Amino acid sequence: MPVTAVIGAQWGDEGKGRIVDYLAQKMDVIVRFNGGPNAGHSVYNRLGNFVLHTVPSGILNEKAICIIGNGVAVNPALLIDEIDRLKQKKISCDNLRISAKAHIIWHWHPLLDALEEIARGNSEIGTTRQGIGPVFSAKYARTGLRVGDLLRLKDVKTRKRFEEYYKNALAALQAVGNLAKQMPDFETLLGRYLSYADKLAPYVAETEFIIWDSVGKKKNVLLEGAQGTMLDIDFGTYPDVTSSFCTSAGACQGSGLPPTKLDEVIGVAKAYTTRVGSPRQVFPTEMPEKIGNALRKRAGEYGATTGRPRRIGWFDAVIVRYAAQVNGFTGLAITRLDNLAGMKELNFCYGYRRKRDGEDVASTLNLETLSIAHLADEDIEPIYATLPGYGRISRNCLNYSQLPQGLRDYCDTIRSNIGVPIKMFSIGPETNQLITS
Ligand code: IMP
Ligand code: MG
Repeated sequence: MPVTAVIGAQWGDEGKGRIVDYLAQKMDVIVRFNGGPNAGHSVYNRLGNFVLHTVPSGILNEKAICIIGNGVAVNPALLIDEIDRLKQKKISCDNLRISAKAHIIWHWHPLLDALEEIARGNSEIGTTRQGIGPVFSAKYARTGLRVGDLLRLKDVKTRKRFEEYYKNALAALQAVGNLAKQMPDFETLLGRYLSYADKLAPYVAETEFIIWDSVGKKKNVLLEGAQGTMLDIDFGTYPDVTSSFCTSAGACQGSGLPPTKLDEVIGVAKAYTTRVGSPRQVFPTEMPEKIGNALRKRAGEYGATTGRPRRIGWFDAVIVRYAAQVNGFTGLAITRLDNLAGMKELNFCYGYRRKRDGEDVASTLNLETLSIAHLADEDIEPIYATLPGYGRISRNCLNYSQLPQGLRDYCDTIRSNIGVPIKMFSIGPETNQLITS
């Protein structure tokens, strides 16, 4: 497994942090390649309980080099805060490296994010308000400034660009509402960023060289994804998506790894489905409120970044099959299997049907159409197989053969439907509650 990517197969929050934490033990280099502080990766291990946003979950393995890749958007204030909190918990960040090519989320990006959400009215995306849309807009409009520029903020040319973008953002914020009040004056803001630059400078590097060197030496490299395939800017349920690349191809683009060097792609999927954002967004397998509420409470399904309750649905094999195609999964990790224990029956969505004539449309379904038109308008409904539930999983369960038969049958349905072997079964947050096969 020299080079492995870990990719979300649903709408994020699949438990990638936990899978990365496990795989990280064998890794020499761990790279986050997309997203920004919109992500919230929860990890619970022998060192404690962590929620990571920008720093790769791999940081908990102190032997590995941990890289924030060029595809990540970095909010310097939040990143410094995260590093400080890790240090307080006695986690060394000496081996953290930040790509000089990663884009900076400036003070105004979260404000513009809020402004854009207000402008969207009823069709709001329900963003995390971390400035993700605006920072990636600036990147592609070529009006962004990167981590390398942050370190050069004292140079006349860079400072001028910074000032120009500051003024443009201020004008946009002044035009509508009262968000401009949250913009400090230019000199104050500049001073703040100069101090951030001093703090982050020791970590900054041209990280693609570290990755090439490691791959050349046959070291183990892990590419850690944030969000999930259904939130990918191209292949997700557009426009209700995030603004970065969440796929295995994105893992290459967001790190500098050549596609020919990727050996394994592990798709992480929950044993059920969740989605967080606006309640009007498409979510074919959403559970009836009563069942969903109970599962949400039992599983603690609230956003790690925003605290919002996540919407809860049955396992949707249509989207995971799609994710398997787009990413080329070589293996699956199924998480949160423990949270389904004790349910009498489990609905398993293996197709979507047009209500009008009953035709199964899953294989031809255009996810873009699906997301724009609400499912009800499209007159499409999920097709379920009802599977028997399984009982509580014993604490002594340490390998595959000790898993309850019902759970194994459920996972076997997933495996045969997706056509990808399941390599990991997560039955709880503890280190020994991850079963490999
Ligand atoms: P943004 O990435 O903050 O622009 O949010 C865009 C959409 O993606 C919103 O519906 C968010 O709730 C969702 N989203 C962004 N990051 C995550 C994540 O890490 N987990 C789950 N949903 C996310
Ligand atoms: Mg999350």
